[in-house]
Parts: sequence; C-alpha cells; structure tokens
Amino acid sequence: KRAKLMKYNTVNDAVSLIQNAKNIIVLTGAGISTSLGIPDFRSAQNGLYTQLANLDLPINDPQEVFNIDIFREDPTIFYTVAKDILPNTKKFSPTHAFIAMLQQKGKLLTNYSQNIDNIEANAGISPDKLIQCHGSFATATCQKCGHKVIGDAIFSDIKEGRIPRCDKCISTLRAAGTSKRKRGGKRSSSGKRSRYNSDDTDDDDNFDIPQAGVMKPDITFFGEALPDTFHDRLVKHDKDLVDLVIVIGTSLKVAPVSEVVPYLPPHIPQIYISRTPVSHINFDIDLLGDCDVVVAELCRRAGWDLKHEMIPPD
Ligand code: OAD
Ligand code: ZN
Repeated sequence: KRAKLMKYNTVNDAVSLIQNAKNIIVLTGAGISTSLGIPDFRSAQNGLYTQLANLDLPINDPQEVFNIDIFREDPTIFYTVAKDILPNTKKFSPTHAFIAMLQQKGKLLTNYSQNIDNIEANAGISPDKLIQCHGSFATATCQKCGHKVIGDAIFSDIKEGRIPRCDKCISTLRAAGTSKRKRGGKRSSSGKRSRYNSDDTDDDDNFDIPQAGVMKPDITFFGEALPDTFHDRLVKHDKDLVDLVIVIGTSLKVAPVSEVVPYLPPHIPQIYISRTPVSHINFDIDLLGDCDVVVAELCRRAGWDLKHEMIPPD
C-alpha cells in the first residue's frame, strides 16, 4: 500500500490542493449519480446488485448480468435488466457540476468515469476530457459480425424487451436466402418462401432473425477489455502531468480502474470522497459523506459558486 503523504489532512488542505492544482484526475463511480435516483451497484440498501439478487434470475451472482460469457450463452438475462439501466435523464448532479467547474477553470486533466449513464455529457464535460472506462450505451456492436450502430438504433428493442439483432447479419442472410432460391431453391407456386414460412403469406421476413448476431451495447462487461483510450491516456499522457487525484463515489472494487490510483506516482496527493470508506487504498484525505454535500462545501470554502440551480428539469 502507498504511504500517506502526512502533510495533508484537513478539509482546508483539500481546498487548497484543489485551488492550486492545474491537472486534476477525477475518477468517478456510480455514487455521483445516486442523487438523481440512479442506483449504484454495491450499496446494501438500493444497489443494483442487491435489487437483482431479489429477482429470480438464472445466475449465481448478480454481477453475472454483466458477464460476457453468460451474455454469449444467454443474452436474455442482460436484456431483462437492460431496460431499467438505459440512460434516461437530461439532469446532472452537483457533483457532475463540480467536475464541469474544474474543467471551466482549466484544472481538469481527465475525468475517468466508470459510469455508463453518460451524464457527464449533460453537465458539459468535454469528450476529450472524459474517459468512459466501462464504455457506454452510445454505440452497440454485433456479437457475430462486429457491425457497429449508434445506441439509439437498439433502444426501442431494449425498452420493449426484445433482443436486438444485427441488421447487417439479417441482410446478409436474406441475400444468401435469395440467391439460393435463384439457383433453384424450393419455391411455392406463389414464389413465397414456403420453405421457411409454410403457412404465413405476409411479407414479414423475420424467418432469418434467430440466426443473425445479437447486438450488445458497448458497455464493458466482466471478461471484456476496457476501451484502448483508457490505457493510452493514462500511461502516455496523464501519468506525467497529473498533480492531484480526486476519487468520488466508487467502491474501487473493479479492476483495472481500481488500479489507477496505486499506479499514479506516489507523491501526487490523493483525495477520496464517498459515503463508504475504503481500506484497500490509502488516500491522503478522506472526505466521507454525501458527495454533493462535500463538493458544495469545498466550493464554499474555495469561494467558488457551484451552480446547483443549473440542473435542468427533465
Ligand atoms: P459501487 O456501487 O461499487 O460503489 C459506489 C460507491 O459510492 C459506494 O461506496 C457508495 O457508498 C458510494 N455512494 C453512493 N451514493 C453516494 C453519494 N450520494 N455520495 C457519496 N458516495 C456515494 O459502484 P462503482 O464503484 O461505480 O461495472 O462500481 C464499479 C463498477 O462495478 C461499475 O462500473 C459496474 C459495476 O460492476 C460494470 O458494469 C462493467
Ligand atoms: Zn452482424
């Protein structure tokens, strides 16, 4: 474990560190969105994994909902849950506003977010300051042919509880089906595809859908690699520039994001803001409590006007 830098202890030390820093890494987790009504993962009361444990899902551990091998075996388990975790708010929390404020003041080096709610964008955090370590719903990829689409394209399927299938696979299957028939495949007298749709005369071509690849949102599942930008930015860019680390609202239980803090040079001061303390990493200053309250107090002491009121209604 990294040794604490003994010179920083108090809330005021945190304030002056933030005031003097020029290149802050802010590492965030689900705790910064709970004030918007979005559950975190591991809180005993309302965490998503606690909620999932109460459902009758055919898995041993709720985290398996996001396990890539399980998804490949049976995507319905993920899609049972996915409709409830789709981003659906234009709001952002005071903590998101705080990160945006650091950006405005030219102090934000990078926000490494584990969140897939994409709320950083609502707060105006610039895409080139943001690493979505666990991906997002912004795009989706076919698990069979690799075809990528924008996330919106599969949202209606997700919301209606259908498994989204790949358009490209479907057209490939249809083209293959057509050419087979052209080469003398069986046809009914009407020319309809009686082989597939024996008594179905409408033109619904869904016969080939079950063979088409399943679309998966580009959120990082357990067993999948993080986006390349995560590693590239951290190692080739941020490591030598960072002068302060602020970790907010994450239990730091999931690698490799949990390894970011110990990876950074040990003389860089590290602040932890969360309801729940961590014991596996030594921060210099722990500010335990509701993160929206903590950042508001830091701003008050710094003499900065954190505009909570800019949270727009949905
Ligand atoms: P966790 O649920 O593990 O941790 C959230 C932390 O934030 C907990 O320590 C809470 O006590 C704290 N917290 C919640 N609300 C808070 C508030 N209003 N103010 C201050 N603290 C608050 O969530 P993450 O650490 O983000 O990955 O989880 C990491 C990853 O595990 C997620 O990205 C997700 C999950 O499996 C994937 O789905 C791939
Ligand atoms: Zn495909």
